[in-house]
Amino acid sequence: MITYDKNNKIFNLTNNKMSYIFCILKNGKLGNLYYGDAIGENLKIDQMIHFEKTSLTVNYFKNDDKFSMQNIKQEFPEYGRGDYREPAIMLTRENGSHLTDLFYKNHTIYKGKKGLEGLPSTRGEESCETLVIELYDQIIDLTVKLYYTIYKNINAITRHVELINGEKESVKINRLLSASIDFFDSDYQWLQFSGDWSRERHLIEKKLSEGITSIGSIKGTSSAEHNPFIILKRETTDEFKGEAYGFSFIYSGNFLAQGEVDSRKTLRMMMGINPFQFNWKLEKKESFVSPEVVLTYSNNGLNNLSHQLHDLYNKDLVQKKWMTQKRPVLINNWEATYFNFDENRILNIAKEAQQVGIDLFVLDDGWFGARNDDTKGLGDWIVNKEKLPNGIQGLSKKINDLGMKFGLWFEPEMVNEASNLFKEHPDYIISDPQRNSSVGRNQLVLDFSRKEVVDEIYRMMAHTLKNSTVEYIKWDMNRFISEPFGKDLGLEHKGEFFHRYILGLYSLLEKINENFPQIMIESCASGGNRFDPGLLYYAPQAWTSDNTDAISRLFIQYGTSYGYPISSIGSHVSEVPNHQVGRLTPLKTRTDVALFGTFGYELDIGKLSNEEKSQLKEDIKLFKENQEVIQKGRFYRLISPFETNNETAWICVSNNKEEALVGFYRIRNAASNPLKKIILTGLNPQYNYSVNGNEYSGIMLMKFGILLTDFYGENKVTGDYYSKLFVIKKI
Ligand code: GLA
Repeated sequence: MITYDKNNKIFNLTNNKMSYIFCILKNGKLGNLYYGDAIGENLKIDQMIHFEKTSLTVNYFKNDDKFSMQNIKQEFPEYGRGDYREPAIMLTRENGSHLTDLFYKNHTIYKGKKGLEGLPSTRGEESCETLVIELYDQIIDLTVKLYYTIYKNINAITRHVELINGEKESVKINRLLSASIDFFDSDYQWLQFSGDWSRERHLIEKKLSEGITSIGSIKGTSSAEHNPFIILKRETTDEFKGEAYGFSFIYSGNFLAQGEVDSRKTLRMMMGINPFQFNWKLEKKESFVSPEVVLTYSNNGLNNLSHQLHDLYNKDLVQKKWMTQKRPVLINNWEATYFNFDENRILNIAKEAQQVGIDLFVLDDGWFGARNDDTKGLGDWIVNKEKLPNGIQGLSKKINDLGMKFGLWFEPEMVNEASNLFKEHPDYIISDPQRNSSVGRNQLVLDFSRKEVVDEIYRMMAHTLKNSTVEYIKWDMNRFISEPFGKDLGLEHKGEFFHRYILGLYSLLEKINENFPQIMIESCASGGNRFDPGLLYYAPQAWTSDNTDAISRLFIQYGTSYGYPISSIGSHVSEVPNHQVGRLTPLKTRTDVALFGTFGYELDIGKLSNEEKSQLKEDIKLFKENQEVIQKGRFYRLISPFETNNETAWICVSNNKEEALVGFYRIRNAASNPLKKIILTGLNPQYNYSVNGNEYSGIMLMKFGILLTDFYGENKVTGDYYSKLFVIKKI
């Protein structure tokens, strides 16, 4: 898959569907030549780069006025050598110089892929090949390794960078992006997934033009405001056709995704750790590894682009055992009780849940310390015996005796001032000792850049986990970092704080996974405030949003599906009026939306009527019958709520195309509606299918579609917040 043409000095990464091509330029630096549909071999640099003399440029060589770094598409741009676009790397040397001159030294190619120490990354054995390019700056004695892995059956290339310092001097890394690509033109739409608390990952589309377009985070988490995922697409590209490029960052902290269009209308795309507030001191002989960026490509539309990421993350990022095992249908007590519960109340909810077929009971916030509201107790991971006299051990056993698994909420990175942990270790928090500390949700952030802090939290968590039968953790994180200071870090190392925090977080997640392999983690951060591929590596599912309203969820889940498999999308049925937006939606609509995710409940089943309880039984049975299709099948977006603002449709198809599940949703009803049908995709045109009991041919479903007959005619007044599910089976 990876070749090097020695004569023409060209590296060619291809899986026969796409090609990623770059070269060694005459000054020894790397030039990007092409990224797109496969174009074979026998390529020549001067057929792909037009070296020309232009005004206002500076030239790298005295005797060559056609060779300017500004005009050349580069692969790993540096600062200060005549390229005035933002670079992928910038350092400060001991003498204050920011200049580097990195030249190709050698390269290696091997089967498979190695992990990144201390960082999440994708796996791959036979399915991929890796290229490592070594660049060297002789004056600094600095080696830079660029890693590329290309996958055989997935249109994905992963990239990261490693810096290895030599023996001459220390350097400060001011800026190190994990991937940078110069595109030939900038005629692209930029798609980002942005929002806020309870309005996460809404699709926003804009046209690129001269200057910089960027999104990022400087909050210490990837954040709900912007997801570390970007798509570039041509204007005519839609869900089913056309060219699109994805950029996804396997990282949970401060990030930057940036597109810079220059005066010649070329585009430089880059992604990595946000350089703002990043400054890493690399002593002599030390090395630094950047997190991994995933590049995906499709010439068959956005659904196909998403499938590349869904496949890669399902097969090669999420731990294997969670992809093979069926995920449990869960019930979480948060919206049912908030902080107000005791063992009896919990057991009553659990008993009702068991009777309708729920597999896992999750005890949310409030089980520990003095945690009766959100002002106290965080950090004291010791059970509150007033609420739970038999401890977590006793409660988990009672839940197990009902035939259910037991799960528990933690917010490991936080502390309330009113807690024993804070009393004993006030220095554990992130703060500038000369200033007061800002609070968010009455809490402070623990300094996870310090090993002893992480160790102490692990000790407390492990104590609870060892003495109970917990099989699931909801891992929450409910505020951003403020007063970032890194008290423990020396003056020269202060700029390492944010990244060291994330490394500390990953080390704790790793340790919990390693020592408690039976526990599945679901990540959460006030809902989807840290829904990113970094956490997916440790936690196969994420609480997508605190917003459980079915209509809001249409947008949130649709937006999330662009970059993430629906096996990772935590989605629950909650009570009405909805607790976040006050909307009243039918139970059917709430269920039909939640089915397309990890499915569960967030309400007190005891409050439901007998009729509703029987309905829950049916719904859970239906989910379990279709779980394989939902968890492992192909998900296609059919009708976008972002376009229609009223209708949404999507479909999950099993890998053998014998089964499928379609959801259609309409927000507002109107009289005399236009006629409506949904054209399906992903089925086998040659098969015959039963659709809710009626026979159709595959070709008919994919060309004509299914009529939505509930919509018109006499006595068909369906009201607002309507949904319809189609269960499709091959005959
Ligand atoms: C956050 C989570 C909720 C819930 C509460 C508990 O807001 O997103 O789901 O767990 O914390 O305090």
